[in-house]
Amino acid sequence: MTTDLRTTDLRDAVARSLEAEQRLPALPTDWADQVHQLAAARNAVILAHNYMLPDVQDVADHVGDSLALSRIAAASDADVIVFCGVHFMAETAKILAPSKTVLIPDLDAGCSLAASIEVADVLAWKTGHPDGVVVAYVNTSAAIKAEVDVCCTSSNAADVVRSIPEGKQIFFLPDQFLGAHVRRVTGRDIDVWAGECHVHAEISPSDLRATLAANPDADLLVHPECGCTTTALYLTTTGDLPAGRTKVLSTGGMVEYARDTKASRVLVATETGILHQLRKLNDSTDFMPVSARAVCPYMKMITPAKLLRSLTDNVFEVDVDPVTAARARQSVERMIEIGSPSRGGE
Ligand code: 13P
Ligand code: SF4
Repeated sequence: MTTDLRTTDLRDAVARSLEAEQRLPALPTDWADQVHQLAAARNAVILAHNYMLPDVQDVADHVGDSLALSRIAAASDADVIVFCGVHFMAETAKILAPSKTVLIPDLDAGCSLAASIEVADVLAWKTGHPDGVVVAYVNTSAAIKAEVDVCCTSSNAADVVRSIPEGKQIFFLPDQFLGAHVRRVTGRDIDVWAGECHVHAEISPSDLRATLAANPDADLLVHPECGCTTTALYLTTTGDLPAGRTKVLSTGGMVEYARDTKASRVLVATETGILHQLRKLNDSTDFMPVSARAVCPYMKMITPAKLLRSLTDNVFEVDVDPVTAARARQSVERMIEIGSPSRGGE
């Protein structure tokens, strides 16, 4: 069963997801043990993105960013992958591991960024630039991935662009803030699609300035999808923010940073689910969100009760038609070959 993310309206999706949760039996107190037993019986691996609810992160076999989870899916010898994340992530796992059963606990877990571009938009650019190279952020549907030359995540986007021969025209899609960041750090001439993630776009320059004013000595970690990325980097050039204490990183890069930092307070500009991983890794640093409103409603659809149902009822299977998957696999495999796993952006 698949869903068309472009026609999924956020409000309807949230309502459906809540209703589905209410219809489920009460969560047993030993739900985490049941999840582990069911997963062992089916040779299933549970992958969870860094934005998952804390309980879901804690029960998973692996927690990580988009690139790390794609690499784990590709290398896994499990028969079943239960993807606790959003739909494009589960689709990417299916593209990389076509013989495995890939389950997502709620099919309504879409992504506003992935829904911000259509296949026709990509084809239109390609028609106008027959020798150009199209780079797609992994937050895209399988149908888009099948039309592009190479995919990337926030962890390796700049490295992917640097791997393209100089002089080629480049189209980067669909995130305008990540695209602007990649253009800035690589110095390449890039056409950028004006899409955005509604959660990260709303972490605004004014949120950033207010949080920084209240915490002038804190370090700052910014996800490149944020609406405040350009402001953060501008403030490093004016001296309002020390360059050495400001990092633009994927969620995996933030986790690596948290492992080693000695800072007493760190401000974090991304979806707030990441705070659980950061605090678990390092309890002597105070990790604070730049915006407490930055909560992805799609990510939060994956609840413990739905994860348990996923394993008991074998739902919801994510499928990608084989022709689309074969074309998309080339661009996704290029993505997982580029960039060091622990680099986490720049
Ligand atoms: P990363 O985990 O790759 O940083 O991506 C964040 C994201 O937007 C997932 O939806
Ligand atoms: Fe998509 Fe944004 Fe949610 Fe990530 S945080 S899944 S980009 S809507």
